[in-house]
Amino acid sequence: MSPPIVAIDGPAAAGKGTLARRLAAALGLPYLDTGLLYRATGRRVLDAGGVPSDPAAAAAAAMALRPADLERADLRVPPVDAAAAAVASIPAVRAALLDFQRSFGAERGAVLDGRDIGTVIFPGAPAKLFVTASLAERARRRWLELKAKGVAAALDAVEADMAARDAADAARAAAPLRPADDAVTIDTTDKTADQAFDAALAVVRERLARAGYA
Ligand code: C5P
Repeated sequence: MSPPIVAIDGPAAAGKGTLARRLAAALGLPYLDTGLLYRATGRRVLDAGGVPSDPAAAAAAAMALRPADLERADLRVPPVDAAAAAVASIPAVRAALLDFQRSFGAERGAVLDGRDIGTVIFPGAPAKLFVTASLAERARRRWLELKAKGVAAALDAVEADMAARDAADAARAAAPLRPADDAVTIDTTDKTADQAFDAALAVVRERLARAGYA
């Protein structure tokens, strides 16, 4: 039996990251935020003075990624949000990042969050969640996050950027954002982080048990 994979997908700022990190700790599994791979790729292109929508530049950046790129403190800022969404629509970038994600989970199992974990990266994962929340609530959360980091931004601009990024993620031909057929949806709009976690843990435990994991 292959080690357990918990796939968590959903749109930006729906609470996936917090949830995934807590699930990984509760289950004793490694955690990978796959958005960081696309963010770090976009960041590399911007740093080199390139254009993130340029397939050759973006693919070269994805192939050159190093673990240290994922540790940078400047990956969650608006220019990188846009650059990540742009590189993520390029098939060669997605192909370059595929093996890393699969090998990450292969040895000990893992909790991974992203947009296509349950549909493309691990379609056979025994536990899949689709975590979502209303656009207004997600924009409010991202705005608070930016404010806490001292990044000035207007709430309506954050909401407009997020709506554009969601639309691009859902409309792209390469691995569009959509729930896997066998994913359980958790809407966190009216849930506290603890309520979302309790609901998610119950679903994941039930799915793993059903698939024969102790
Ligand atoms: O999750 P996060 O907002 O950090 O992801 C940044 C961008 O990376 C997303 O807008 C999306 O375009 C892309 N992404 C993706 N597939 C993933 C994770 C992220 O396309 N598995």
